[in-house]
Amino acid sequence: MVVESFSIPDRVVNLKAEAAFTVLEKAKLVERRGVDVVHLEIGEPDFDTPQHIKDAAIEALKKGETHYTPTPGIPELREALSEYVKNIYGIDVDWRSNIAVTVGAKQAVFAAMLTLLKEGDEVIYPNPGYPAYSSAASYAGAKTIPYKLTIDNNFSVKPEDISEMITSKTKVIVLNSPHNPCGSVMSSEDVRGIVELAEDHNLYIVSDEIYQPILFDGLRHYSPLNYATDTDRVILVDGFSKRYAMTGWRIGYLVVSKDLHPYIVKVLNVMTSCPVSFVQRAAIAALRGPQEPVYEMVKEYEKRRNVVIEELSKIDGIRFVKPAGAFYAFIDISNILRKINKTSEEFVLDLIEKYGVAFLHGTAMGEYGEGYIRISFANSIDNIRKGIRRLGQAVKEVMTE
Ligand SMILES: Cc1ncc(COP(=O)(O)O)c(C=O)c1O
Repeated sequence: MVVESFSIPDRVVNLKAEAAFTVLEKAKLVERRGVDVVHLEIGEPDFDTPQHIKDAAIEALKKGETHYTPTPGIPELREALSEYVKNIYGIDVDWRSNIAVTVGAKQAVFAAMLTLLKEGDEVIYPNPGYPAYSSAASYAGAKTIPYKLTIDNNFSVKPEDISEMITSKTKVIVLNSPHNPCGSVMSSEDVRGIVELAEDHNLYIVSDEIYQPILFDGLRHYSPLNYATDTDRVILVDGFSKRYAMTGWRIGYLVVSKDLHPYIVKVLNVMTSCPVSFVQRAAIAALRGPQEPVYEMVKEYEKRRNVVIEELSKIDGIRFVKPAGAFYAFIDISNILRKINKTSEEFVLDLIEKYGVAFLHGTAMGEYGEGYIRISFANSIDNIRKGIRRLGQAVKEVMTE
């Protein structure tokens, strides 16, 4: 019971939690009634964490690594991360002063926003996009300025678009490539152009690269770290959840400038003291061990992506583009919604209830996601076919009603 005269502060009341978990809950409820539901809503790999990673955690537990660690992570993991960053981005980072290990990339986003933003600062962020960017920025008191990703611009953002949004109050630009939920991947020119803008206007870039290297058709990954003349303005947010199928382990990291590092570490200290001790050993095994499991998973995602396209092509009345990375397709169903006069969320709930397939409504990823649904292809090819055929059936029925 809430004591009278006590009111929950606006910053908490207005906090937007991830709606993906609500859809999952709904789907589980329907399943409990005996309905077969195909899950294409979930944003996590269906693969098991590779065995050598699990073994490293078990070994650490057996050795008694069950206590607190330094807030920014054990030195061995930070060293492994600095080698990884050198490998992927070709830049030298000091494990002591540039790296902080976090409890998932989500915590990295939160800590970065709390450290960078003052009341009234402006943050330019992707919408639709991963909801934590705007939630964390609003919580920090900043004003959130969305850049709209639509199917008509191939779910991409151009430096010119960002340029128009910059004001004297802008502090941070958020980039996310490969992108959740659109499956789009930024080109080198766009990344370079946005880095130049950030440099000209003295802004930070928070670059969430958690879906790197899940890229298809031989595409390459481009990071602001590849182009910044001053890498201090780039905050890299990354994690192990997607790449190594480690969502439940809750581990990620940040690469930040030497100046920001002590403050971000202070925020992390207040939040969680340190990342989980034995999970850090698992993360070292992920980085230093064989990378074949990652390549295999990426190959499988690409196969599934092709099946998604094949199945969606059979449905009239929807629009989509071929996802270039991550494991999502973002489908324009606005024609159908207009016909039935429903929101994407209402339609998603109908699909679970009446057709036994769960997707994520576009508005779970921001208001500009209205008119879309996200299909996750982190599921088997059989389930992908089954789920999309159920969508096809639903679309056919509502369009001929
Ligand atoms: C774009 C993006 N960033 C960050 C995260 C957070 O990942 P985690 O906290 O599991 O590392 C997610 C998870 O869905 C995501 O899609």
